[in-house]
Amino acid sequence: MLQGALGTMTERAGAGAEGPLKVGVVGVGVMGSNHARVFSDMAVVELVGVADPDVKQREFVARTLGCAAFADINGLLREGIDAITIAAPTHLHHDLALECISRGVHVLVEKPIAPSVEEGRAIVAAARRAGVTLMVGHVERFNPAVESIKRAIKDQDILSIAITRVGPFPPRMSNVGVVIDLAVHDIDLIRWFTDSEIVEIQPQLSSAVAEREDIALLQFRTASGVLAHINTNWLTPFKARTIHVATRDKYLIADLLTMQVTECFGFQADGSYSMRHLSVGYAEPLRAELLAFIGSIRTGRIPAVTGEEGVASLEIAIRCLNARPLPASVPQHKTPRRVAG
Ligand SMILES: NC(=O)c1ccc[n+]([C@@H]2O[C@H](COP(=O)([O-])OP(=O)(O)OC[C@H]3O[C@@H](n4cnc5c(N)ncnc54)[C@H](O)[C@@H]3O)[C@@H](O)[C@H]2O)c1
Repeated sequence: MLQGALGTMTERAGAGAEGPLKVGVVGVGVMGSNHARVFSDMAVVELVGVADPDVKQREFVARTLGCAAFADINGLLREGIDAITIAAPTHLHHDLALECISRGVHVLVEKPIAPSVEEGRAIVAAARRAGVTLMVGHVERFNPAVESIKRAIKDQDILSIAITRVGPFPPRMSNVGVVIDLAVHDIDLIRWFTDSEIVEIQPQLSSAVAEREDIALLQFRTASGVLAHINTNWLTPFKARTIHVATRDKYLIADLLTMQVTECFGFQADGSYSMRHLSVGYAEPLRAELLAFIGSIRTGRIPAVTGEEGVASLEIAIRCLNARPLPASVPQHKTPRRVAG
């Protein structure tokens, strides 16, 4: 888990007269251990330590990366860190974020920002009051294939977006369903691609195997008129991640696993068109995300994914969960009258 690709990206973030920022990670399970690994390899930061109540896990991560291990957030905060990733389970994000913010520590909180919109807003308000940088870990925005789509649709009249994010059940079931766990990534992408808010939602959810929803077909309309669709589930035996975007002039097809982005263009009246593969750079998305976080701390610029954006995407996801399905209009069949005898 901790070994991994070390990108060759230039580390502009944080370069300057100041020394490296002192950073920590709270919650070093699947996601947090990756944050710690990437931080430990960045010249612009010093990974001071990790905090996790799971003694085996925190000792393993700390030993592998050569940093200190703490049983809880307070031990880590006492080390005087400048910035932190919060990658503990989502229901703890609010309390952990407020604790860090109250000590003037810049926060990158994993997605979703919080389990509820109210808690998300409280984190945003606290960060604003304290004047610290708050960024949300919507890492897909830093996926080079996704960045390639974003470049290709710049100045295009977007008509529709269809995203598929499916796969088998995660090895450890968390206490959230596919909408909060997976679809929130794509809700964020739809809002980011279109630079527009989602104004209409039509969700279809089902719990086929799990207690919470494990299949979701979500349809949206943005304020700018784009129609968008998310197909997500934990019932597909293999992983698939695709994005299709139709604009008035182009049709884009991206496979986020093979990192291939294809553009169809030059539509002719006879049905012919041209196709080309777009260039997709190589960069570990998490590394790019963390560099962006450090960069916004250093420069004071608005972070790449703001707390407000994290709350807006969460709000749409929660509306999908709370929406009452429209009653289907059942065709009225004439029931044959029973004949006695
Ligand atoms: N951006 C992404 O693509 C992505 C992917 C996976 C998970 N996540 C998010 O990351 C967060 C963690 O998910 P995960 O899959 O890594 O979970 P996980 O269960 O693998 O890890 C969570 C860790 O937090 C620790 N923890 C529990 N209570 C704690 C506390 N009070 N203080 C500190 N640590 C505590 C646990 O011991 C565990 O090691 C969630 O918010 C999840 O939504 C994001």
